[in-house]
Amino acid sequence: MESLNWVDSTPEMKSYSLIAPAKINLYLEIIGDRPDGFHELVMILQSIELADRLQIKSNNTQKISLHCNHPQLPADRTNLAYRAAQLMCEEFPDIYDNYGGIDITIEKNIPVAAGLAGGSTDAAAVLVGINLIWELGLTQPELQELGAKLGSDIPFCISGGTAIATGKGEQLDPLNDLDHLWVVLAKYNNLGISTPWAYQAYRQQFGDTYVLDKEGIKSRTAQIHSGPLVSAIIHKDGAAIGKLLHNDLEKVVLPEIPQVAQLRRAFAETGVLGTMMSGSGPTVFALCESEVRAQQVKQEVSEMIGDPELNFWISKLTSAGIQVAS
Ligand code: C5P
Repeated sequence: MESLNWVDSTPEMKSYSLIAPAKINLYLEIIGDRPDGFHELVMILQSIELADRLQIKSNNTQKISLHCNHPQLPADRTNLAYRAAQLMCEEFPDIYDNYGGIDITIEKNIPVAAGLAGGSTDAAAVLVGINLIWELGLTQPELQELGAKLGSDIPFCISGGTAIATGKGEQLDPLNDLDHLWVVLAKYNNLGISTPWAYQAYRQQFGDTYVLDKEGIKSRTAQIHSGPLVSAIIHKDGAAIGKLLHNDLEKVVLPEIPQVAQLRRAFAETGVLGTMMSGSGPTVFALCESEVRAQQVKQEVSEMIGDPELNFWISKLTSAGIQVAS
């Protein structure tokens, strides 16, 4: 009888389609410097339904390949999504040898260099996707620990929803969802802001206000938990949340980029629940109680500013992080 020792050890080629939501900052306070050169932050982060779509496939080339429908995005290791795949290959070399390389296809819907964590959420999706394809069985906290090595927003992007983020932004305390609220986002096509530039500019101008001692940092961090914004979130009080939005980086970006300041004023004039720049900008969002209201606000601001370079998106807040689409 012929031997049955024919079992092919090549794993089947698997493919996952993932949804990678953008985030906005309901709150961003810069507390001080960290020994690693980053900043101690207190943030409240919020996922929105505006999302990129990623297809992650294993191939048998022992290479990572990345394709993206956005012409400005690099397809090499300067892309955070590529580096996420590279990190997984380095962390699990035997499994990488067994399964072969990874094909990543990104359908970019989130604006780039916009303060919406578009790059971080793509990287988060790559970590989640490879965990599935390689059947690693890593837990969400384990994936978040890996993500933190690549970027401060990646751990949040993995779990998503509404959360307090402290430290570099990687220490997360989840809050209840705010799925009933909507945002209008607006960004000039021709404007992009480098996050390192924004933080550097803040350090130069406000470095002398930084809290230096550990106790001081701890108490500022503790304040957010018992503060009015968290209370408004717990009560799902959109009007109160809107009034308490805050972003320290506006202090350096608004004076430098007048279009962003003008957008902020235009949204405020429409009487929305609240308006704020997201992250390091230049996207400005306006919080609204309904989709209908968001449509009206978009229309009003679009007419007020009348610039064809100004793009708008309407999106619902979501409690979801990275999701498998199929
Ligand atoms: O972590 P990530 O690569 O997204 O951060 C981008 C840049 O933002 C960093 O290079 C740093 O200049 C700045 N940053 C910071 N402190 C943080 C997070 C980001 O200074 N906690």
